[in-house]
Amino acid sequence: MVLNVCLIGAGRAGQFHAISINNTPNLRLTHIVDLNLEKAKQLVETIDNGDSGPPMAHDNLERVLEADLRCGLVNSEINFVIVASSTQTHYDMTMLAFRYNKHVLCEKPLGNVDQIKECYQIAESKKLHLMVGFQKRFDKNYLNFIKSLDMYDMGSLNQLTFITRDFPVPSIEYLKTSNGIINDMLSHDIDLTNVAMKGEKPISVFAFGHTNNSELKEANEIEHVNVLMNYASGTIVTLVGSRTSTHYDQRAEAYTDLLYTKMDNLKVDTTFSTENGVIMESPIENTFLQRYKDAYQNELKYFMDIIKGKVENPITCKDMLLNAEICNAINVSLKTGEKVTL
Ligand SMILES: NC(=O)c1ccc[n+]([C@@H]2O[C@H](COP(=O)([O-])OP(=O)(O)OC[C@H]3O[C@@H](n4cnc5c(N)ncnc54)[C@H](O)[C@@H]3O)[C@@H](O)[C@H]2O)c1
Repeated sequence: MVLNVCLIGAGRAGQFHAISINNTPNLRLTHIVDLNLEKAKQLVETIDNGDSGPPMAHDNLERVLEADLRCGLVNSEINFVIVASSTQTHYDMTMLAFRYNKHVLCEKPLGNVDQIKECYQIAESKKLHLMVGFQKRFDKNYLNFIKSLDMYDMGSLNQLTFITRDFPVPSIEYLKTSNGIINDMLSHDIDLTNVAMKGEKPISVFAFGHTNNSELKEANEIEHVNVLMNYASGTIVTLVGSRTSTHYDQRAEAYTDLLYTKMDNLKVDTTFSTENGVIMESPIENTFLQRYKDAYQNELKYFMDIIKGKVENPITCKDMLLNAEICNAINVSLKTGEKVTL
């Protein structure tokens, strides 16, 4: 069964979703919507729909969904919508898609606590599926890392660390609407922390942030941040994040009583070494487009399976609310310089 999808946003995220759609069997991109019609048209040029023809470029989602509803009385075209437009549009776009009975795969973040609750309530009442794009959940290396913590009886989880450094630096225009480094970037690692901690809420969080880069300072953006989270079960979680970096840095490590496990940056190629040491080191997957290419596609395939009723949605309303609560607490700590109790 072929599913038809409408993609909203033709920026960086729109591009990786378009690549995933293009590479996914039984999925057809029918519409690309961007406020900037030229960007939508440019992205259309990259899509190969074979005999069924290219997607249509639009600048207004509501008009697309209305037209779909009109022809939908006979044969509805769009099965689901991917929201990959700017962060501040996610809640409105999701609600609009729900009004027209479309399932939604939405880029993070979905919205504030009230908006998250409302979106999931509406999805449930209309029997629609909603999944937020935490693609690290569908990345085989992060999955193996988290699985390793449960694999054997290795004692208690003492320390868990996630490191995320962005590369290249996102544009200032993007940063101005991104909701800040915690909600925009660290929310992925907070999500993984919550999976590893099986939904346990931290007792308290404490964060330091600093900005050296003058452009980021002017944009009021935190450049470097370290977060400590303390758990009743005895685990200490450290999140390290930077907007600037010498390279795209995506790592994790954990230490239990009997196990040390780490996930490194992914190499593009083979590393050669002799007894005298490394003689050729491979470059790493150096942008999010390279590093998460497979994860974005897995995420999309998983969402299609959710729609087809084959699997359960792994990213629940409860997950999103805990994530938002932790992000809020970290932001308060950054503002006040105090430890924040949850
Ligand atoms: N999961 C990830 O790895 C990942 C990576 C990058 C971005 N993102 C998320 O994706 C979203 C987009 O990020 P980006 O980097 O593509 O930003 P971007 O600025 O490159 O693109 C955003 C696009 O949305 C369009 N847009 C804005 N308002 C719109 C509206 N009302 N209707 C239609 N289009 C509209 C803009 O014209 C622009 O083309 C952000 O929320 C970001 O958090 C996720």
